[in-house]
Amino acid sequence: MSKHNCYICDKETSLLMSFGQMPIANGFLAKEQFKDEYFFEMEVAFCQQCKMFQLVNQPEREQMFNESYAFFSGTSKAMGLHFEKFANHILSDYIKDTKDPFVVEVGSNDGSMLKHFANRGIRHLGIEPSANVAQVAIDNGINTVVEFLDKSLAERIVSEYGMADAYVAANVMCHIPYINSVVEGIKALLNPDGIAMFEDPYLGDVIQKTTYDQIYDEHTFLFSVYSIQYLFNQFDMEVINVEPQVTHGGSMRYVIAHKGAKPVHKNVYKQLEYEQVSGLTDFETYEKFRQNCGKYQSDLMSLLDDIKSQGKSIAGYAATSKSTTIINYCSITTDHLDCIYDTTPIKQGKFSPGAHIPVVAYEEFKNNYPDYALLFGYNHEKEIMAKEQEFMDQGGRWITYVPEVKVI
Ligand code: SAH
Ligand code: TMP
Ligand code: ZN
Repeated sequence: MSKHNCYICDKETSLLMSFGQMPIANGFLAKEQFKDEYFFEMEVAFCQQCKMFQLVNQPEREQMFNESYAFFSGTSKAMGLHFEKFANHILSDYIKDTKDPFVVEVGSNDGSMLKHFANRGIRHLGIEPSANVAQVAIDNGINTVVEFLDKSLAERIVSEYGMADAYVAANVMCHIPYINSVVEGIKALLNPDGIAMFEDPYLGDVIQKTTYDQIYDEHTFLFSVYSIQYLFNQFDMEVINVEPQVTHGGSMRYVIAHKGAKPVHKNVYKQLEYEQVSGLTDFETYEKFRQNCGKYQSDLMSLLDDIKSQGKSIAGYAATSKSTTIINYCSITTDHLDCIYDTTPIKQGKFSPGAHIPVVAYEEFKNNYPDYALLFGYNHEKEIMAKEQEFMDQGGRWITYVPEVKVI
């Protein structure tokens, strides 16, 4: 196992476990690309100083975020609704009285969030380095720069557009290993009474439900309130509120302001207390998590092997980025799954990263119902179940692994 100094505080971290060789989670590929597929050893570590849970190695950012990025925010209706509510919350609770507000979103993807500001004529800017998804936003009239955010880009934005009243991000802050530079950028970008709001999968949910599939190449970090407070305190900023979210199997939204600029809500202290009581700040908790990962892996494989030994068919449902960790860590192969059904055109006709399971257009699902469908998109369970009632009516069963491995 490798030695690794913390991305946040530079102290040597405590290594936790290796998930083995992993491919790029969103690297869906064509047959002719199999021989050049990139793998890295996915190890995780915990910093006992700032309490940040983190990856040890990561592919280069351009290997993950580029002109053929496979994740489009707009593929989930429920997430679309979530972003509309998020935008309305910012508008009515934070910038209602601000004259001519300026909103900056990082990792703005296809514009699913910013369109709610753009449609109201509000000054906005998206920062999105993956050119193909950014183009969708640009085509819809959303101002977008196709670049990675860091301190120097933030300074350029200030000189070109002025300071921001709201900095917004969803599922991207945890993707950035050079996050200290980004936080310095936020400090430079944000008006003295501006707010930064961002949400990411919450470490507390991952540990509680053993959703280790939140660990993949893009997720440099799994945040807690403690580690985020530590991160921003380094630059004289602070967490003023936290708002738990149900998205992505359990997320946390952090509200940040310049130190002393706004009152700190009691939710922050409550959540910090919860983290201490539930052991999120103790290394022993992560040793238990490591054991749980092994148990979930063997429970799932016993179930799949058992179903296959009865001669039944299984297909995957939703080729999520998270499924790359499940499939490769558990060694799920084409002997277990005939294919994975998915709604994203760029993934269809390609093969899943690592195990090379064919990805098929979800419209085909109804013509080829398997006996069992392995629900990789458990975070979209409601949306998926509602649309696949007929599969269940015809006797189809779902296999899930959150919060435990079972057939439903
Ligand atoms: N916010 C969207 C997209 C999340 S996926 C949602 O929640 O659905 C993460 C996005 O962040 C990708 O589109 C990726 O290209 C982008 N990204 C990655 N690193 C970034 C960086 N340093 N600055 C800005 N965007 C980044
Ligand atoms: P996510 O879990 O990272 O949000 O990934 C979403 C993936 O799930 C994306 O590839 C699209 C797929 N998906 C379906 O195939 N069917 C659905 O109904 C939904 C909501 C998502
Ligand atoms: Zn640290």
